[in-house]
Amino acid sequence: MRFRWPNTKRRCRRKMATDVILMSHPIPEGVLERPGRALADGDIVAFPTETVYGLGASAYRPEAVARIFQLKGRPSDNPLIVHLPSDEHLSDVVSVIPETFSTLYRAFSPGPLTYVMPKSDRIPDVVTAGLSTVAVRFPSQPTARALFEAAGVPVVAPSANVSGRPSPTRARHVLDDFAGRIPFIIDDGPCDVGVESTVIDLTSDPIRILRPGIITASDILEKTGLEAVPWTPDPDADRDAPPPSPGMKYRHYAPNAPVEIVDAPDAHGWVAAIGRHAAPGRRIAAFMSEAMWDDVRGAGVDRTLSVYTYPGPPDAVEATRHLFDALRTLDRQTPDIILAEGWTGEVASAYMDRLKKASAPRPPQEVLFVCTGNTCRSPMAEALFNARCGSDRVHATSAGMAAWPGMPITDAAVTALREVGIDAEAHRARQLDVPMLEAADLVIAMTAAQRDALRRLAPTRAERMLAVADVRTDGRDVDDPYGQALPAYRRARDMLSETMDAIRERAISMGSKSAPDLRA
Ligand code: TXA
Ligand code: MG
Repeated sequence: MRFRWPNTKRRCRRKMATDVILMSHPIPEGVLERPGRALADGDIVAFPTETVYGLGASAYRPEAVARIFQLKGRPSDNPLIVHLPSDEHLSDVVSVIPETFSTLYRAFSPGPLTYVMPKSDRIPDVVTAGLSTVAVRFPSQPTARALFEAAGVPVVAPSANVSGRPSPTRARHVLDDFAGRIPFIIDDGPCDVGVESTVIDLTSDPIRILRPGIITASDILEKTGLEAVPWTPDPDADRDAPPPSPGMKYRHYAPNAPVEIVDAPDAHGWVAAIGRHAAPGRRIAAFMSEAMWDDVRGAGVDRTLSVYTYPGPPDAVEATRHLFDALRTLDRQTPDIILAEGWTGEVASAYMDRLKKASAPRPPQEVLFVCTGNTCRSPMAEALFNARCGSDRVHATSAGMAAWPGMPITDAAVTALREVGIDAEAHRARQLDVPMLEAADLVIAMTAAQRDALRRLAPTRAERMLAVADVRTDGRDVDDPYGQALPAYRRARDMLSETMDAIRERAISMGSKSAPDLRA
């Protein structure tokens, strides 16, 4: 069964209807022909796997692979996994098959294990981000396997989420991030595992676990006799040297709300954690098992919590299955904090890896205000923003497109700000450059013409660049008061002041553009 999901996102540049293909089992004849052909022809298809949903493209189509990076907003130094239905055509993808591979393949594939091996020349560099190795996986999910057969090409697929967001474990999550931007989503219900595959490096001895997943070092030892050691970032390592698995350095899996891990084996621990956050008007969300929630409720906790429960008693595997859905579902209710159950033990290592990343402290979102000289409008905007909306979640800076670095803010701007209780006398002009544009989470230009010029300077960041007019209901630019008397400065100040809350909302809803390096 198919239905079309129209694009409803306003600022999307490439609009299309997304076909959602609902699967049934046994898989009806021919149902995957169209998406299979689309993949082979260079289109993008989101599909289920047993771990998470993937955003697929043909590994042999560099332009389609590049589109995946663009769609996800994924840093180009983070390589993709190549998916195959079986090891039959492995030599198309890999140049040398390490000795350990066949033992591991027999024990764990098809399944949630990804092997890093030397890459073949047929795999374009864009897939591996220039590395000499390639990651290969053989999913067990029947629809994924049938799709790869229909495509007849190796399929690259990162998790089908916008970079930094929790990975998708339901087709609904993929729609949330990509409706109207990709032609096909195959919906085969919730994913069984719930976290991404274990990634192991077969080019090292012993084998290294680059990313923990549901298959653990103990599983590997028990089923194959092979030793696998976890890769842990070396704090003394050269920060510019690439880590063995580049994806592990980025902050992932993060909802907008802050996340706190509750190491609470019983209801009393939960009640205490909830109590620590209870404050008037503060909205608390929580993720735990159904049985634990019954106990917590029985212990007489405040009922205004938003709660996501997974079925049954506390269980690490079940918690893992529901983790990303819980983070996404609870985040939609815009809580002030999400409390999530903590686990110990190897079986929970993937769950805790993702949860720790989701709860890592995050730097504030940066709003960069831009005008011409950085002595009137943009420093006023910066000062107004930080005074009214600045917090540990969002912070403003400013720069000028033609600034004299070090030039003081104009006297009239200082006066206009002083009238509303803000001291900005210490501001000095900064010259704008492209790295500043690329580093900011949201760039706000004073006029539409400036916004257009900035978009030409850093085209990949265009969606994060707006004019004040874009967030005003009257669509007006902020005119330059330079050289004019105080009333012109007051007008600029008041126009800017009116837009600050809307800019703050935009900045927070935008999410972080890039994540800090976790090797520190
Ligand atoms: O379960 C999964 O693995 C899912 C499903 C869709 O298959 N895919 C997935 O892909 O999680 P992605 O792109 O979100 O994560 C791939 C991870 C990243 O951490 C990346 O750095 C690492 O694999 N990786 C890919 N190629 C690599 C290579 N040649 N060497 C080391 N790490 C590699
Ligand atoms: Mg991912």
